[in-house]
Amino acid sequence: MTLLDRDVIAVSDLSDDEIQALLRLAREFAGPEGRPTPRNELADRIVACLFFEPSTRTRLSFESAAHRLGARVIGFSSPAATSFAKGETLSDTIRTVSHYADLIVLRHPKDGSARLAAELSEVPVVNAGDGSHSHPTQSLVDFFTIGDERGTTTNNNVVLLGDLRFGRTTHSLATLLSRFGNKVTCVSPPGLEMPEGVIEECARHGRRPDQTNDLVGALADADVLYVTRIQKERFADPAEYLKYAGSYRIDDDILRHAEADLTILHPLPRVGEIDHAVDRRPGAAWFRQARNGVPVRMALLTSILKETPQILTEATR
Ligand code: CP
Repeated sequence: MTLLDRDVIAVSDLSDDEIQALLRLAREFAGPEGRPTPRNELADRIVACLFFEPSTRTRLSFESAAHRLGARVIGFSSPAATSFAKGETLSDTIRTVSHYADLIVLRHPKDGSARLAAELSEVPVVNAGDGSHSHPTQSLVDFFTIGDERGTTTNNNVVLLGDLRFGRTTHSLATLLSRFGNKVTCVSPPGLEMPEGVIEECARHGRRPDQTNDLVGALADADVLYVTRIQKERFADPAEYLKYAGSYRIDDDILRHAEADLTILHPLPRVGEIDHAVDRRPGAAWFRQARNGVPVRMALLTSILKETPQILTEATR
């Protein structure tokens, strides 16, 4: 397997072996404390982080990963201060920046923008979230975290809760979980169900997810509860968003219906879907999940930009 010079636009761009190798490499980078030490693997490289949409975790963990590997980072956190504000197209931006960097990390509000960018770019493109379509690196982080918290990435019973229609992290995660033999149960407010295309993709590559409105029933034998927010920014009509806001909330009361060791994940940001009292539960893992963003993205950047990651040759010495 080699990810050298490859784009990562969807989890389907990666084979099962490549995903497992990435997780092993991320484990090496994380070390026993989950806190990567600075390295020089990418000392001669430049990573461009182009964020056309707001982000805290994805942008900063990519930048942290690049810095911890010795790479330099260029880019922007908002298009307002770029020539996009003068009317420049994404295509022209990508064609330009691909001469300034060795890899482009792109977040953009349009579904399919990352694939378009990959077709135009001279250097590899990593999708950091394209509209409501996909967020493959978040799903790798989620998958790594499930392995960490549950001791295995197969045969888990995972409940996905929330806005599964627009929640791009759930689309790529459902696909990944199904491929690796996990049971996925989708729970969403009516109207925000998982797209049929994602369900079909899961079924083609593994187990078909169940779909239900019965959260209490789904929690009864769940190993992992993955909570997402309603994706306010994806609703054309604010009144439509208000119909769903506050329609579900995880608190200690509802968690009485789950096993005591339930692992609870959230890609964050959370905006009221989880009561803060739940933070005290040992299975509340969303900040460990956010922490894992750095080693997982270190593994990805190294694999794309370096033929034989130094850390692996060290490990086999
Ligand atoms: N999980 C995630 O994508 O968070 P940000 O929007 O803060 O990057």
